[in-house]
Amino acid sequence: MNILDTLSFGKIVQLREVLLKAQAAGKKVYRFESGDPSFSIAPHALAGLQAAAAAGKTHYIPNAGIPELRRAIRDKLERKNAIRVPSEENIFVTNGAMHALFAAFQCVLSEGDEVIVPDPMWTEVVENIKLARGVPVAVALRAANDYQYAPSDIEAALTPRTRVIFLNTPHNPTGAVLSRETLGEILQVARRRNLLVVSDEAYEDVIYEPHMHHSIGSLAPDYQDNVISVFSFSKSHAMSGLRVGYLVSTAPQVMDRLQKVLRCSINGVNSVAQWTALAALQGDESHLAGMRAEYAKRRDIMFEALSGIQGLRPFYPHGAFYIWAELDRSLYARLGCANADEVSSKLASMGIGSAPGEAFGSLCHDAIRFAFSCSTEMIQEGAPVLRSALLASLPLRGRT
Ligand SMILES: Cc1ncc(COP(=O)(O)O)c(C=O)c1O
Repeated sequence: MNILDTLSFGKIVQLREVLLKAQAAGKKVYRFESGDPSFSIAPHALAGLQAAAAAGKTHYIPNAGIPELRRAIRDKLERKNAIRVPSEENIFVTNGAMHALFAAFQCVLSEGDEVIVPDPMWTEVVENIKLARGVPVAVALRAANDYQYAPSDIEAALTPRTRVIFLNTPHNPTGAVLSRETLGEILQVARRRNLLVVSDEAYEDVIYEPHMHHSIGSLAPDYQDNVISVFSFSKSHAMSGLRVGYLVSTAPQVMDRLQKVLRCSINGVNSVAQWTALAALQGDESHLAGMRAEYAKRRDIMFEALSGIQGLRPFYPHGAFYIWAELDRSLYARLGCANADEVSSKLASMGIGSAPGEAFGSLCHDAIRFAFSCSTEMIQEGAPVLRSALLASLPLRGRT
């Protein structure tokens, strides 16, 4: 059997198609299904893109990334993430964090190796583990625990086949953020069993006070060879379409394998996109504060719109740009839906985007995710429409 036949087509992509069709037909749609930042790239990043294109920097480049960008990323990791990186050779530029995860799992997994993952989790993590012939092992995140990835739960899920602990902070879809203490405890679990850690930090800059982002890679320099940290320009620099991410690894065997995966999968990230990423890193980062403030505003509008609705319990996110809400029977009964999937489909038919729990794992079906990465105007206009759709009662004769 071809391994690809075991992967899904992606629930969110299917819902997006319904919305895009409606939009093309002139219908008003609210893009709350999508995690694509509405912001434009910073002027200095755009200048870098234009200069690179004008200078004809459009030829083949080294497949792990242009040296200038690898050096700048190394400086950034040391300055901002407190991750000590011995050399720029430890940095691998990838086609977004998605490709970094693909590459990381291809490098570290053998058939049947288990990877501990939080559930819910962004679907593509689990799919990439399967693609590398690994076995995802879900650890439930619970509302009562603010969706924290509990070190004791991770420990309880370990088996002799466990090879990797995967983590993601800030977390998609719940918006939970892991504290430095929790990361330290997760690292201890990994150490005790000599496990690898793959840390997805794509949302490092989308975080709300008083919460702070910490990189697990900064916590144990002596365990560094066992940690692979993954980052992205998509969310921090609103460069999602330019497809630049990166990972850092110091383990010689992983580095050798990464070279091979990159050569055989992409043979280097788009050169102009890499020069743009370099310009983004070299310019000042004052736009990040503005971006965070705008996201915080959107979060509050959307959270208020989702509050006080019977049968729906939204979590106030600490990071990322999603609101995760658990659903119960009273909401299903009121809307005439059998489950969260039907709620999402019903909302999509009304032009409102969302993503049902089942898109994020096997233990979280009675939930739904709303993204607030679209424009503030869209949130302001769409949040009340979403609220009334969720409050609406089914006409009596439609009840089952
Ligand atoms: C948790 C998480 N990791 C990684 C990514 C990948 O981002 P990109 O490939 O655009 O860098 C995403 C995208 O939504 C995400 O939600």
